[in-house]
Amino acid sequence: MSNWDGIFSVEQIDDLLQLAEQYDKVFCLIDENTKKYCLPEFEKYDFNIQHYLEIKSGEQHKNIDTCKILWNELMKHGATRNSLLINLGGGVIGDMGGFVAATYKRGVDFIQMPTTLLAMVDASIGGKTGIDFMGLKNQIGLIKKAKGVFVNPAFLKTLPLNELQSGFAEMMKHALIDSNEHWKELGEIENLRELTEEAIFKSIGIKMNIVAADEQDNEVRKILNLGHTVGHALESYFLQTANKLTHGAAVAAGILAEFYLAKELGFEVEDFIEKYAKLYLKHFEKVNLQEVYFKELIEIMQHDKKNIGNEICFSLITGKQERQIDITASHLQIRKALLRYSEL
Ligand SMILES: NC(=O)c1ccc[n+]([C@@H]2O[C@H](COP(=O)([O-])OP(=O)(O)OC[C@H]3O[C@@H](n4cnc5c(N)ncnc54)[C@H](O)[C@@H]3O)[C@@H](O)[C@H]2O)c1
Ligand SMILES: [Zn+2]
Repeated sequence: MSNWDGIFSVEQIDDLLQLAEQYDKVFCLIDENTKKYCLPEFEKYDFNIQHYLEIKSGEQHKNIDTCKILWNELMKHGATRNSLLINLGGGVIGDMGGFVAATYKRGVDFIQMPTTLLAMVDASIGGKTGIDFMGLKNQIGLIKKAKGVFVNPAFLKTLPLNELQSGFAEMMKHALIDSNEHWKELGEIENLRELTEEAIFKSIGIKMNIVAADEQDNEVRKILNLGHTVGHALESYFLQTANKLTHGAAVAAGILAEFYLAKELGFEVEDFIEKYAKLYLKHFEKVNLQEVYFKELIEIMQHDKKNIGNEICFSLITGKQERQIDITASHLQIRKALLRYSEL
């Protein structure tokens, strides 16, 4: 299924096993969920695991304290420069496992084995690894490519629906950025449990192409932040409430709000708004966004790492063949866009 360097589909498992055989010891990082739900599938393949490293699931554990435990475990179990770490899990396991491997003894190789849809189509592609620090996301990390990424949709069978939605938001984003044809295919999906391997690989291909054009994340790759300025603000805002949003649910809402913003800025995006809103509402519940939240949301956006100087920056689709990065908007324009979303 995959023709891309380093991406392995289930049919290519023998190549991946061969690659893993070249290492002196193979370690595998899991959390309690991937241990329960993904190990049975993983153990069908004989990776000859020396030792399983187990951590607790959740973003709150993606930090330096967990890394210390993992470096220590690797040392205790004799991991050398020539050992391999397999990260079996969602984006938290992939980001942190990648970071731990990339820094242990100045760097050992690792394989990403994404088990969430978001990790398959997004987090495990592009080599970004890292952890949260001082309460801020992904502050410490580095870009290091995995030796391989194994994409096996069988893992998705046990994934809760809200986590499937989360990954689907990034798939919609990829399709909007790059492929009208892929967008049409996504539009035909009635139930996210029916998502095909083909659709997943298409989405991966789009991200791979964008990353290949800009591995160090300087320019082109910034378009992948579509929906993320508003999305991150919503995610952070609702984190403090009882109604937490998954990353994808926040981004899916953010994409729509940013289309409204593009319109507010004078770009011709009415067609996009219509087609996006339709698919969005088919799979997502609208976020309960109230005007009293706007001030704090804009304050959060002011700390977005994409900003230039004091200006809040957006990556936007601005027309049929137009995508633009570093677009700034006034607080009033942002408020109007948020208002339009809340009135949807
Ligand atoms: N490196 C990148 O380029 C990049 C891109 C996007 C997101 N990320 C990072 O990814 C992380 C989010 O990843 P995520 O959405 O995969 O969340 P996650 O890793 O927290 O996984 C979500 C939940 O699903 C559970 N789970 C995983 N696989 C399962 C399965 N097959 N069946 C049942 N449960 C399963 C996990 O234990 C967890 O509780 C964030 O830390 C984010 O910063 C990184
Ligand atoms: Zn995202």
